Amino acid sequence: MENLTDRSMQRFDLLQASSKVIRNLAERRQNKEANRRLALQFGQEYFDGPREQGYGGYRYDGRWRAVAQRAIEYFGLRPNDRILDIGCAKGFFVKDLIDTLPGIQAYGLDISEYALTHSHPDTKGRLYRGSCDALPHPDGFFAAAFAINTIHNLDHAGCLRALREIERVAPGRGFVQVDAYRNDEELQIFEDWVLTARTYCKPEEWLTLFEEAGYTGAYYWTILEVDSNLIREIGSSALTR
Ligand SMILES: C[S@@+](CC[C@H](N)C(=O)[O-])C[C@H]1O[C@@H](n2cnc3c(N)ncnc32)[C@H](O)[C@@H]1O
Repeated sequence: MENLTDRSMQRFDLLQASSKVIRNLAERRQNKEANRRLALQFGQEYFDGPREQGYGGYRYDGRWRAVAQRAIEYFGLRPNDRILDIGCAKGFFVKDLIDTLPGIQAYGLDISEYALTHSHPDTKGRLYRGSCDALPHPDGFFAAAFAINTIHNLDHAGCLRALREIERVAPGRGFVQVDAYRNDEELQIFEDWVLTARTYCKPEEWLTLFEEAGYTGAYYWTILEVDSNLIREIGSSALTR
């Protein structure tokens, strides 16, 4: 396998998602605190309830296939390599990885009992419950570990713990995507839209946090930007959230 450890801290748009227009900011602003409390339980409401409370219905539609292909190429993954999707939700990325690279030992971990019990049937036996800041694996266990829009749900100290854990189980071979903003306007939109993130900051502040944690893997941002009066979610997960 290609040695990526010398590529430390590489920005990489793994999801390469086309931007998505956010339409219901006004609805999200209503009852924001109540919706936020519900969303933070990562239960039925967050995954399969109304859009104001989260995904608005999280169903498999194969959109992670392209991400799986890119991940396999980027990390030079081969059959029998072990990988972990941290914050795997219903296991859609794990499913598309095992379909794209037969023989890969792909696993997923998530805090949500609801997501795990409603996961894709093809991921049976591959997903387990746990928290990204305390991974139950030995050092260097994985050929790659992904945490896509997951660690920012923890506070600053939790993010540091999670980054250290990712680095520990997959040294130099992590991929982390987190919520970020570049200016006050993006911050305002972000605060109106976001439900679960506890840590969001400017890209350069995330880089400082990565360094503090000793994280040397790859990373990318999820940013809400204003473009011709439309609010676009860029670099985001391939599925709605
Ligand atoms: C925005 S979703 C992202 C899911 C998927 N990675 C994606 O990009 O579509 C955040 C996920 O992180 C999970 N999560 C939240 N806190 C977590 C924690 N402490 N440890 C592991 N997973 C967590 C949630 O249950 C949810 O599945």
